[in-house]
Amino acid sequence: MDKLLITGGQPLAGEVRISGAKNAALPIMCAALLTAEPLRLDNVPRLMDVRTMAKILALMGVEVGAQENGRLELRAREIKDPTAGYDLVKTMRASVLVLGPLLARCGRAKVSLPGGCGIGARPVDQHIKGLQAMGARIEIEHGYMNASVGRLKGARIVMDLVTVTGTENLMLAAALAEGTTVLENAAREPEVVDLANCLAAMGAKIEGAGTDTLRIEGVRSLAGAAHRVMPDRIETGTYLSAVAAAGGKVRLSGTAAGTLGATLEKLREAGAKLAVAGDAITIEMAGRARSVSLTTAPYPGFATDMQAQFMALDCVASGTGQITETIFENRFMHALELQRLGADISIHDRTAVVKGVERLQGAKVMATDLRASASLVVAGLVAQGETLIDRIYHLDRGYEALEHKLSGLGAKIARVR
Ligand code: UD1
Repeated sequence: MDKLLITGGQPLAGEVRISGAKNAALPIMCAALLTAEPLRLDNVPRLMDVRTMAKILALMGVEVGAQENGRLELRAREIKDPTAGYDLVKTMRASVLVLGPLLARCGRAKVSLPGGCGIGARPVDQHIKGLQAMGARIEIEHGYMNASVGRLKGARIVMDLVTVTGTENLMLAAALAEGTTVLENAAREPEVVDLANCLAAMGAKIEGAGTDTLRIEGVRSLAGAAHRVMPDRIETGTYLSAVAAAGGKVRLSGTAAGTLGATLEKLREAGAKLAVAGDAITIEMAGRARSVSLTTAPYPGFATDMQAQFMALDCVASGTGQITETIFENRFMHALELQRLGADISIHDRTAVVKGVERLQGAKVMATDLRASASLVVAGLVAQGETLIDRIYHLDRGYEALEHKLSGLGAKIARVR
């Protein structure tokens, strides 16, 4: 199995191009289920999760074109089998996003329950509750959600908590429902807005994207469209935190700084100099970073998907930082691996107290989930000597050409067997 070998200590310099957002591409690919016409996407990242979603859709009968230069064309002329099986769903929880659109288009769906996950319980009760409010019958049988409905009906749904894919699933379903759906306590993440923009290009009537109340007037049918996937704000933030930790000067192009408010603020607090010009962000870090404290929260708060990378930054910063995770109950697994590199971290319930050390030392470590792997890369880039990261299939789910992009910035990093 592939591993990543990093020899730390080099500052980063040069330019890196940011890919399209995984978390926007996945729901947008599911929007293709809502129309018989082609959906032409641009800026789709080349990632394992995108391939998994393409596979799930292809098994239903969706025509999936070859992915070239970020282009991907999907056409659900006919949905032969509205099923998403366990073997694929268990590898990627976002596959549950097919449930809403399948119900809206076919009136039935059979989707595996995603099951457990490394970072917490992650139930899908809000997805189910919302679709039931729209008239769907959903039964759990043999590990599958068996759903059926004549035509979904618009409803007023108050979500019990802010869920990103939950909001997206219901938005996809409501686009073709009869009547108006109002989603309250909806997620405000930029990826929700990107999905709303794509749906609008297909003819959907959606108001309020980016606020906590979405109003979706269902239409009879949707058309094909062309849509460019938004830049990946988490990939952007990961490279920014790597430069903040390792030092140097890097220009990131293809970004959307407007979606990175909380992250940029914390980087400035850590001592980084940032300059935004058009779609580019330039970061310069001279000397040692200062510790930052943060609490994860739904957008526009600090993203839970950036928490691990900032913990790695705090590990080598001067001072002590407190990191509180409020979204997932078990998202500190990277702390134990960072300790193997010499980090000083103590965990008290949902808060990690990170005392910066002068230097980390390379060691063998294991990636436990996608963003945890990213934190080990950030730490490996500053650690003295060699860091060998095992189980990097997690990284391949969410970072396009990571080792090529980092080598381009002067890092000593290679994929080894
Ligand atoms: C999405 C992102 C993921 C990010 C997360 C939080 C995608 C593909 N993934 O995941 O990268 O870390 O948002 O920003 O976009 N919950 C329930 N019931 C539900 C749904 C969620 O209790 O029906 C809980 C979850 O267990 C969690 C919280 O709500 O504690 C937020 O989860 P949610 O926003 O749904 O995360 P995802 O959409 O799965």
